[in-house]
Amino acid sequence: MRSLIVGCGSYLPARIVTNHDLAKMVDTSDEWIVERSGIRQRHIAAEGETTADLATAAAQAALNSAGIKGSEVDLVVLATATPDNTFPATATRVQSRIGMTGGAAFDVQAVCSGFIFALSVADNFLRTGQARTAVVIGAETFSRILDWNDRTTCVLFGDGAGAVVLRAEPRTGAPDERGILSTHLHSDGSHHDLLYVDGGPSSTGTVGHVRMSGKEVFRHAVANLAQVVGEALGANGLTPADLDWVVPHQANRRILDSTARKLGLPMDRMVVTVDRHANTSAASVPLALTEAVSDGRIKCGDLVLLEAMGGGFTWGAGLVRM
Ligand code: UT7
Repeated sequence: MRSLIVGCGSYLPARIVTNHDLAKMVDTSDEWIVERSGIRQRHIAAEGETTADLATAAAQAALNSAGIKGSEVDLVVLATATPDNTFPATATRVQSRIGMTGGAAFDVQAVCSGFIFALSVADNFLRTGQARTAVVIGAETFSRILDWNDRTTCVLFGDGAGAVVLRAEPRTGAPDERGILSTHLHSDGSHHDLLYVDGGPSSTGTVGHVRMSGKEVFRHAVANLAQVVGEALGANGLTPADLDWVVPHQANRRILDSTARKLGLPMDRMVVTVDRHANTSAASVPLALTEAVSDGRIKCGDLVLLEAMGGGFTWGAGLVRM
C-alpha cells in the first residue's frame, strides 16, 4: 500500500501581531526581526482558543477539501508541543469533534519536526494496513509557552494549524506513482539544553517557557537539514533538480535561503510563509503546504520535499508525489 495526500487544510487565528506591536512590549525593532529572521507578523490565538480548536478547524478544512467525512477516518495523529491538557491527547478531542468514533487518535511530540514525525507514523500505519484513512495535523499555540519578556524568543513564534488527509491505495508500480515516497526521521537528545521548555508535569509541575540558544540551534539546523534532505533524495535515486517544490519548516528566512543554496534551487521553488506566520512549530509545514496547494502553485503529480528541524534535537524529511 501507499499513502496518498487527498486533502489539505489550515487555520490561522484572526489576531495578527506585527513586529511594531512587539516593539512596544520588549526592547526590539521591526528592522532587527526582519533582518535576522524574515518575520514581519504572526497570528496569535484568542483568549480561550486552544490547540484543539485550531487543530479541529484545520482537520475539518482538510476533510472538506478531500470530500471525506470525519466518520470515514480511522486514524488521527496530531503533532503538538502545546497540548490543551497534559492528558488526554489533544487528538482525542479533535477525533470527537470531527465525528469520528472508531479507530485511534493520539499525539506525537517532536516540537517543530512534529508534522514530519506524525506524517511518517501515519504513513507506516497505512502502508501496513493498520488504517485506511488518516488525518495528520500539526497544531500549536506557542504563544502560551513564550516568555513575553524575553526578546530572544518571543518575537519568533506564532500560533496556527495545518492538516492533511491520507488515504491508503494499492501500489500500481507505475513510474511517477502518486503518494508518500519515503520519510526519514532523526533525533539527538544530547542537544536538549539548546532548545527546551523549562517546565513540565514531572519536573517542575509548571508549564514553563521556551528557552533557546538561537545561534547554536541555527548552526545545527542548517547542517541537519542538509543531511536529511540528502538522505531523502538519495533513498529515492533523485537529485535536487527533480524537485518541483520544497516545503520547509519556517523558523528563519536565512535557514530557508541556505537550504535553497545548498540544493542549488531558486527561492521561487521554496514555499515561504515565515514572513506572515513566523515559526508555528509543528504547524508550519502543513500551513505552508496548504497555502501552496490552495493557490495552485503545487499541482497534482508534483514532487514535493517536506523538511523540518526542532527541539530535542529532532529533524526529518519526507518526499511526496502529490
Ligand atoms: O524551530 C526550531 C528551530 N529554531 C530555529 O531554527 C531558530 C534558529 N535561530 C535563529 O533563527 C536565529 O539565531 C535568531 C533569529 C534566533 C537570532 O539571530 P542571530 O543572528 O543568531 O542573533 P543573536 O542571537 O546572535 O543575537 C544578536 C544580537 C544580540 O546582541 P549582542 O549580544 O550582539 O549585543 C542579542 O542580544 O541581537 C540581540 N537580540 C535582539 N535585538 C533586538 C536578540 N534578540 C533580539 C531582538 N531584538 N528580538
